[in-house]
Amino acid sequence: MTQEEVSLEARLEEQESFDPPESFVEQANVSDPEIYAEFEDEWPECWERAADLLSWDSEYDTVLDDDDEPFYEWFTGGELNASANCLDRHVEEGAKNRAAIKWEGELGETRTYTYGELLNEVEAFAATLRDRGVEEDDVVTLYMPMIPELPIAMLACARLGAPHSVVFAGFSADALATRMNAAESEYLVTCDGYYRRGDALDHISKANEGLEGVEHEVSDVVVVDRLGDALTHSLADNQHDYDELVAEHAGASVEPVSRDAEDMLFLMYTSGTTGEPKGVKHTTGGYLSYAAWTSHSVLDIKPEDTYWCSADIGWITGHSYIVYGPLALGTTTMMYEGTPDYPTKDRLWEIIEKNRVDVFYTAPTAIRAFMKWGKQYPAEHDLSSLRLLGTVGEPINPRAWKWYYKHIGNEECPIVDTWWQTETGGMMITTLPAINTMKPGSAGPPLPGIDAQVVDAAGEEVEAGKAGYVTVDKPWPGMLRTLYNNDDRFLEEYWQEYSDPDADEWVYFPEDGAKIDDDGYITILGRVDDVLNVSGHRLGTMEIESAVVGVEGIAEAAVVGGDHEVKGEAVYVYAIPEDGYEGGDDLEAKAEDAINDSIGPIARPESVIFTPELPKTRSGKIMRRLLEDIASGNDLGSTSTLRNPEIVEEIAGQVEAD
Ligand code: WT7
Repeated sequence: MTQEEVSLEARLEEQESFDPPESFVEQANVSDPEIYAEFEDEWPECWERAADLLSWDSEYDTVLDDDDEPFYEWFTGGELNASANCLDRHVEEGAKNRAAIKWEGELGETRTYTYGELLNEVEAFAATLRDRGVEEDDVVTLYMPMIPELPIAMLACARLGAPHSVVFAGFSADALATRMNAAESEYLVTCDGYYRRGDALDHISKANEGLEGVEHEVSDVVVVDRLGDALTHSLADNQHDYDELVAEHAGASVEPVSRDAEDMLFLMYTSGTTGEPKGVKHTTGGYLSYAAWTSHSVLDIKPEDTYWCSADIGWITGHSYIVYGPLALGTTTMMYEGTPDYPTKDRLWEIIEKNRVDVFYTAPTAIRAFMKWGKQYPAEHDLSSLRLLGTVGEPINPRAWKWYYKHIGNEECPIVDTWWQTETGGMMITTLPAINTMKPGSAGPPLPGIDAQVVDAAGEEVEAGKAGYVTVDKPWPGMLRTLYNNDDRFLEEYWQEYSDPDADEWVYFPEDGAKIDDDGYITILGRVDDVLNVSGHRLGTMEIESAVVGVEGIAEAAVVGGDHEVKGEAVYVYAIPEDGYEGGDDLEAKAEDAINDSIGPIARPESVIFTPELPKTRSGKIMRRLLEDIASGNDLGSTSTLRNPEIVEEIAGQVEAD
């Protein structure tokens, strides 16, 4: 580095707050600071601004119906269709030839769908699904990677009023079966395979294996042929080729079904404290308004933009901010099939340069990987089209924030660090990019109309600087309505902790720890339940533990997260072999296979440590904190409250050696 570069780095290192550039403010969708006061004064009518971003078949009569708290209803009486909002109205308004989806495959092939073409494709597939028997309210499972047929299938379902349940393609066969069983889903759309680091990956075998575990009859399976000759597959009697069916329905016109605002748009399964995944239910009116509103106000998306969120559509980020939010606003949304380092570590920067991307939204884990690879990769590309950057999924450390700001944004793009969850449907805590000063590492204030705070165990707001828990006092349109077929668990998981039903006080508890500063900026500290955040993906420790104890020869297991430079958190498994077994390589491989089979490669453990005992308190509870500290290489402090303190050093020694 030159002397000048060194002093620039030093200045950046010390700078604690950053203001949005004037040029950004001037063009922003939302730039009047009064918006916070307006939302507060006009609450809940303020949310009409979100609903106004959509076209309604019939106007709603009530913004918020809170008769049956916490089963809130939004925009009741209103009717609309999500696919008509994402497609038809843009075509009618003259955007037929604007690119809706620009897709790039890992091997470099590209496909662009204009709004007109996307609408045709969605209608043809909707006609296909209807022909196969899909009716309004039937749950259709989509087990697909990042190929255009995934958003097409989502929008086709939405057109028919059939809720979709997308299962991340990296999840295992078991995970697919669990989710299809829980949703009693009788239809599956999947594909033969996809590319990963240049290899053709077989997906259909995994889908078929999953289907074997489905307990009810599956009437139809539609299979997209992504790989052509690179992978041959055969189709069972109830399985059909996507292209053949769609060709039969080419040119079909399918009226979008008018859905009640509160009708389910989709289900998304996510991990919780128990082994059973939670089926988060999102609605048509509230969710879509909220996805559109946050895309407009936080991501500053304009119809003429090329916008790119590098998440996978298999997670909520992709639902809200690759598909529904951007398409509702009529912009061009990018999709990339593969990994960021294939064939070289500048792949994403090449995509941004080539497509003149305006807004880029990614995850801290990705940024940490980019940092590790080096600034020379983005430096090779012209990234001057970028106007705004975003992150989501986990806390971002100030060093990674500043790297992103300088080496990707050229110190000219505001960064929004957006805190939210599968359950919240959209962003909740973040700066508004044209209004608030940015503080690296802190997500920012709650969005206008979002009543979030940081409280102690008793529910009292904590002083600035003290750690506490995030809670949300008022409902918002994008919130989950319930856990599918499980209202009791919905109440238990999110409302029990801080609500006082007798006083009619309902408080949503997201299970995150946080701090707040004097300016009301919230810094998220991470989950406070038994859920890990690995590379921005939520994994339940109980799910992993139950996979491990299912291995013959393993008696007991504890799974915790340990700090990881790139992933944020990594999975650590501590296991006790059964009598007569020894923790050797064989058991370790079996434990890894079991995790792979029950969840998928994303849950692959960093290490599996065998020990004759787990550290337990005198009352017999496993000391998870201690296991986390061992995994993270932290100071262990006193172990005197343990029943078996001697085991700690033995385990720590093994982790170090691993
Ligand atoms: C959990 C939700 C929201 C879509 C992706 C993950 C953590 C999310 C941030 C952020 C700190 C964050 C929280 C949250 N999280 N965004 N900007 N800063 N932590 O969705 O799988 O439902 O996970 O991700 O712990 O509870 P999810």
